[in-house]
Amino acid sequence: VAAVAERDWQAILRLADLARRLRGRSAAAREGEAATARAAFDRAARALRREAGDPLVLKVYLPLVEAIAEGPLTLAQIGQSLDGRSATESGHSHFINGPGGLDHLHRLRALSDAVVVGAGTVAADDPRLTTRRVAGPSPVRVVLDPRRRLPRQRRVFDGTVPTLTLVADGDGRSLVHDPDALPVAPAPTGALPPAAILEALRRRGLNTVLIEGGSRTLSAFFAEGCIDRLHILVAPLLLGSGRPALALPVIERVEDGLRPQVAVHSLGTDTLFDCRFG
Ligand SMILES: NC(=O)c1ccc[n+]([C@@H]2O[C@H](COP(=O)([O-])OP(=O)(O)OC[C@H]3O[C@@H](n4cnc5c(N)ncnc54)[C@H](OP(=O)(O)O)[C@@H]3O)[C@@H](O)[C@H]2O)c1
Repeated sequence: VAAVAERDWQAILRLADLARRLRGRSAAAREGEAATARAAFDRAARALRREAGDPLVLKVYLPLVEAIAEGPLTLAQIGQSLDGRSATESGHSHFINGPGGLDHLHRLRALSDAVVVGAGTVAADDPRLTTRRVAGPSPVRVVLDPRRRLPRQRRVFDGTVPTLTLVADGDGRSLVHDPDALPVAPAPTGALPPAAILEALRRRGLNTVLIEGGSRTLSAFFAEGCIDRLHILVAPLLLGSGRPALALPVIERVEDGLRPQVAVHSLGTDTLFDCRFG
């Protein structure tokens, strides 16, 4: 298991908290105040860089909190087999990843303001989307359920952590009966445009957003160029069939594929490919 020293993880959580506060300052906040907060963040980051020895802390979590301090950030994760599947054909995916991959996913949740999943994932997996494997706050849970097909008995609606449901604007039910429904104007296809989803979340102060899945949700954000970082968590497993982790519009030639900057890290039995775009 990719154990991260608790002391280092606590330092990352404190930095994430400082980064959120830094970002939360209104434009009207006095410049001096912002400079003090920035100096506190930089001091804490320097101390961690001196003291931590773990490459996951230094090369993955610290750069992430530094990016969080800079501005809105959209992360995505895929847990997949060696042959690029994120679920079997029937939609079974628990669990492709080992404990190291799952701990990492929970750490990403703890650093995020919101975690986004599609209705298909809630229907198939009934996830809680909390941080119960690691220390740190659970993010606001966001479900893309434009047609409001999910029953309220799903665990994501259990009230232990706030949950927002993204619905198509014009659905009168959402506005009248459900204060946790967040309406977004749909495209002519009926899909909710990913950029508009992110904008609606940012208006609620949710600036660091983790797109957790499934494949259709992630692919829609990806196709619109809305993902800043993608963490692919590869498990030593061959499924040989199943749902593709990512399904983007068809390209003709290899050179038309995306070539992000990639750093590779061990998560115990799983391997993390940390991909940066732009
Ligand atoms: N391995 C992993 O890391 C991982 C992570 C998460 C999930 N999964 C697996 O992935 C499978 C589910 O994935 P999936 O691709 O079938 O479904 P999904 O992405 O979870 O959900 C797709 C549905 O969400 C709604 N949706 C998503 N994006 C939307 C948008 N931009 N606008 C409007 N609606 C949007 C739509 O609901 P409507 O159909 O109601 O229109 C859409 O059909 C499950 O088997 C789960 O186990 C794997």
